[in-house]
Amino acid sequence: MKDCLEVINTRSSIRKYTDQAISPEVCRTLVEAGLKAPTATNKQEIHITVVGKDNPVQCEIQNDLNPEATVSFFYNAPLTFYLSADESFRWSPVDAGIAVENIHLAAKALGLGSVILGCMERTLNGEKKKEYAAKLAIPEGYKFFVAIAIGYPDTEKPQHSINFDKDVTVL
Ligand SMILES: Cc1cc2nc3c(=O)[nH]c(=O)nc-3n(C[C@H](O)[C@H](O)[C@H](O)COP(=O)(O)O)c2cc1C
Repeated sequence: MKDCLEVINTRSSIRKYTDQAISPEVCRTLVEAGLKAPTATNKQEIHITVVGKDNPVQCEIQNDLNPEATVSFFYNAPLTFYLSADESFRWSPVDAGIAVENIHLAAKALGLGSVILGCMERTLNGEKKKEYAAKLAIPEGYKFFVAIAIGYPDTEKPQHSINFDKDVTVL
């Protein structure tokens, strides 16, 4: 288990995974990391749907995104988590972002890799929204916000560089 700053200072988005399966215990730890994230007014409005790579819904999403694509939008990760949240709550997008980052960092701490996925947002909230909500067990009144593909890394990627002077103002 790595300490928090080491995880933050070494994490990057991983887009190539081994075939190693993620155990139910590790999966549970990752889901709990998402649910333990702070939410505005402690509303706890985040729902997580855990989907294995062979689930037909993933093929359908891949196809709807681009039937011609030669690479997987899920990067063949063994698991993808879909985060949905209360559609009418103004802080849902922020809360979903915090929850997904908690999962991303927890995965790194446990020796896994992950990549946050937004590419399916329009597809899941478009004309097939109801159909996808049923297939992904998204609760009534909730909508999809963001996903995260997770697996054991089969690649290393350096961190992106930062530009402190451009991006920070100290008053
Ligand atoms: C909200 C959000 C949506 C993203 N959607 C995708 C995506 O659909 N596909 C993908 O490959 N990466 C996606 N990413 C990962 C970013 O491309 C990645 O974080 C960025 O290139 C910086 O790389 P790093 O995470 O390795 O520092 C997303 C990241 C965020 C925060």
